[in-house]
Amino acid sequence: MLNISDLKVSYGQSEVIHNVSFGAKKGEILAIMGRNGMGKTTLLKSLMGILPSQGGRIELGGRDISTMEPYMRVKHGLAYVPQGRMIFPALTVLDNIKTGLENSKTKTIPDDIFALFPVLHEMRHRRGGNLSGGQQQQLAIARALVTDPKVLILDEPTEGIQPSIIKDIARVLKEIRKMRDLTILVTEQVLSFTLDLCDRLMVIDGGRFTHEDLREHVDANRIKQLLAV
Ligand SMILES: Nc1ncnc2c1ncn2[C@@H]1O[C@H](COP(=O)(O)OP(=O)(O)O)[C@@H](O)[C@H]1O
Ligand SMILES: [Mg+2]
Repeated sequence: MLNISDLKVSYGQSEVIHNVSFGAKKGEILAIMGRNGMGKTTLLKSLMGILPSQGGRIELGGRDISTMEPYMRVKHGLAYVPQGRMIFPALTVLDNIKTGLENSKTKTIPDDIFALFPVLHEMRHRRGGNLSGGQQQQLAIARALVTDPKVLILDEPTEGIQPSIIKDIARVLKEIRKMRDLTILVTEQVLSFTLDLCDRLMVIDGGRFTHEDLREHVDANRIKQLLAV
């Protein structure tokens, strides 16, 4: 579904992502783990077209999207939940979700969104800024899902979320995969969440992948070592 080959991303003269290649299948949940500063956000922003790449190819469902503007990548089936969630605090929950519809054909919120996130329905007239961290994360995911993406990309979705709520986020992401049969690409630092969620795990270090395992083969202690400073 998603295929990246030889991707390079730089800030000025400083290359941060070095010839990275990987892919994710339809319906697969792929986690990319790495410490702060290893290149997770840079990688995801370049997939979305928010940051330019200096080389390589990004294919979505067999189509080269490398040169497309971000909104065109969304039209072709990418959706993005940024680090820190970036919801609009002054807008209501409903209006926050509707901002995700700007580039969609339908302009209506799909029915299954509120089935997935009943709390957002209850709170639909509240301002986004008045929601808890976990609820804001649900809101950011809901906003990304309204375009009916083929690939959902999330950047550290558990950051700043209470441990008791982290399990709920893993559950809802698995539910989304089941309902929509979409591909999920997620970056993380929380190993328990990743192990609860993913089918496959990769470790990024200094802008390169240094490790890869299917979920059933993951040695948690080895991954902890790789993530230790
Ligand atoms: N806007 C920027 N300008 C220059 N360097 C940046 C910028 N954003 C990130 N970097 C650098 O790129 C590297 C990767 O950062 P980032 O992708 O944010 O890592 P992560 O998301 O894994 O914490 C870091 O060394 C960081 O300092
Ligand atoms: Mg980051």
